[in-house]
Amino acid sequence: MRDFDETNITEAVVAQFADAGDPRLKRIMTSLVRHLHDFVRDIEPSFEEWSFAVDFLTRTGQMCSNKRQEFILLSDTLGVSMLIDAINHRIPAGATKTTVLGPFYVEGPPELPLGADVSNGISGEPLLVEGSVTSSDGTPLAGAVVDIWQSDGDGYYDVQQAEFDGPLLRARFRTDEVGRFRFRTIMPAFYPIPHDGPVGQMLAATKRHPNRPAHVHFMIAADGHETLITHIFAADSPYLDSDAVFGVKNSLVVDFARRAAGSAVDRAHRHLAYDFGLKRVDHLTAAPMPSRENKA
Ligand code: BEZ
Ligand code: FE
Repeated sequence: MRDFDETNITEAVVAQFADAGDPRLKRIMTSLVRHLHDFVRDIEPSFEEWSFAVDFLTRTGQMCSNKRQEFILLSDTLGVSMLIDAINHRIPAGATKTTVLGPFYVEGPPELPLGADVSNGISGEPLLVEGSVTSSDGTPLAGAVVDIWQSDGDGYYDVQQAEFDGPLLRARFRTDEVGRFRFRTIMPAFYPIPHDGPVGQMLAATKRHPNRPAHVHFMIAADGHETLITHIFAADSPYLDSDAVFGVKNSLVVDFARRAAGSAVDRAHRHLAYDFGLKRVDHLTAAPMPSRENKA
């Protein structure tokens, strides 16, 4: 084990994992080393560039706290989160497509009755949301847990606001006996992902914007089904074709229709209707909610 150079060091490192007990770990470490070495051979970094990369990753770690996860944001903005999502959600026909969880989900949102207004009186264009939850074969799912969260009309989540005092624009509903739900809210706006750290520097240095198109988040859980994590995007929002985290899918882009005042909402408002399909997984009982609590 001596005299390593550009041509033989990769195999020498890979050989060191020959006795790794766990075959999955061995495969991961071997592939990591091969790809990392190929990357280095490809770009031939200077010592200054290597040192910058070490500092960038150090600062990314230092930016992380119980309120901020800069590494996940890096994964999101490099398309890794959506790639992992795609690999892990090869869903059947009839199941709703998935997208990133994002940092603004807060576990245990307030459970509200169907039809409740989650805006707590804050100003914005009124929005009525109605939908259903079925199994991917069309069977209605009564009692499904529907968590929703969204930005306000200025593009901020409650947890981003200093004056934040309790949950706002987030709630938990349970579908009725025919699998339906409805609630009132205000139109969400497009917004920038947190970009005051290393990820923001990467975006700026590469002339990328940090914005996400306007959306409402949904996390839907039902016994015997994979928990669905997705958003519904407003079809008239900017940035649908340049989402900073690559989360947009055509089937999740919906016309939030303009409606006149009526019995459900006494003012002109927008209307979002969407029917969600969940993938059946026979060995599961209600899946635990994933957690990335209040981290941006
Ligand atoms: C969000 O939609 O809340 C989000 C997703 C990924 C990164 C930042 C924000
Ligand atoms: Fe969001």
